[in-house]
Amino acid sequence: MNTSVVTSRLRQFAAQFENRTTPFYFYDTALLRQTLHEVTTAARAHDFHVHYALKANAHPEILVLVREAGLGADCVSGNEVQRAIDCGFDPSHIVFAGVGKTDAEIKIALHHDIFCFNCESLQELEVIAALAAAQGKQARVALRINPNVDARTHHYITTGLEENKFGIGLHEIGEVIALFKQHKHVQCMGLHVHIGSQITDLNVFRALCTKVNRLQQLFALYELPLPHLNLGGGLGVDYHHPDEKPVADFAAYFEIFAKFIERRPGQQIHFELGRSVVAQCGSLISRVLYVKKGLQTNFAVLDAGMTELIRPALYQAYHKIEVLHSGEGEVQKYDVVGPVCESTDCFAKALELPELRRGDLVALRTAGAYGEVMVSSYNLRQRGETLFSSGL
Ligand code: LLP
Repeated sequence: MNTSVVTSRLRQFAAQFENRTTPFYFYDTALLRQTLHEVTTAARAHDFHVHYALKANAHPEILVLVREAGLGADCVSGNEVQRAIDCGFDPSHIVFAGVGKTDAEIKIALHHDIFCFNCESLQELEVIAALAAAQGKQARVALRINPNVDARTHHYITTGLEENKFGIGLHEIGEVIALFKQHKHVQCMGLHVHIGSQITDLNVFRALCTKVNRLQQLFALYELPLPHLNLGGGLGVDYHHPDEKPVADFAAYFEIFAKFIERRPGQQIHFELGRSVVAQCGSLISRVLYVKKGLQTNFAVLDAGMTELIRPALYQAYHKIEVLHSGEGEVQKYDVVGPVCESTDCFAKALELPELRRGDLVALRTAGAYGEVMVSSYNLRQRGETLFSSGL
């Protein structure tokens, strides 16, 4: 059976959801703090630096907690760079990636003198160099290399294969290095790789280390020093057991890199974690609008849909659905769907849940990462509010 009873973590808050307008995002601040404590402790054990990937969740209240815990910021747009700065991140702890940085975005980052651009192509490097020269500055740049490592995750969130648009192909390395050597307005800070997201097989990271070690040997031949290695993010979370495993195994993750990366003397190692930091602390809380009795299946129509949480529609992603009442009543099978005019607006099929009635509250768990940031206004849907446990 696919669970019925509300978990102890959410149970303590459920009573306070009753009179709220749904749907809304709810964040368990204590769990976020605990996760931040665990990630920083595990990273510190190896003298690793962690930059939080804002793309997972850029809510200012979350960012302030992340910053207070001592993480840096990994941004993929000028607005994210600006948001990080507005939330108090020191520019010297901000990195900026993305295959399509506009001139305006590059100028913002140069203006703030961020720690490092993660550069994704030779063509981008030329533009960064020209814009830095125009400002009389030297841009710090790490080269995002496409290492061609299979992340063994969903096809849509794989980024490190040759077929993916991300990073500089190995065939262009020679030209890139020549540009660094001749252009005084760009400084090579090191290498950057990121192969994908929701990676649960840690062996994948071992394969990544092997590739990065080889890349380092190649760069040594060209005598280009690499003071920093940024090994990206991607650590997966347990969508099926959010209460049994509320915090990802950061120690095991960092252990792999500590063991298998050939760290050069004085070299600094960076990571860009998003999902594993914020996924489990967030839930999307929704109400049952209608229960439609079908011939084959019942439909539980929620007031939240793919506009609030697109991951199931986009990646066939699983989010555990919990009914926030006491769980009495006979178990029934439901297709749990949203109100949006699309057949893909479906959170679960033939899911066994205790009998649902109009007005019941349900929680879509593990929605703190790539949930609220991907909300859309399709169908002119109203944006819901955001609630923090610390604000209840
Ligand atoms: N660094 C780079 C360069 C990235 O592209 C990403 C994620 C991260 C770091 C953070 O990865 P994480 O630790 O969160 O796995 N919307 C998709 C996920 C897209 C991930 C994009 N890049 C989803 O809902 O699954």
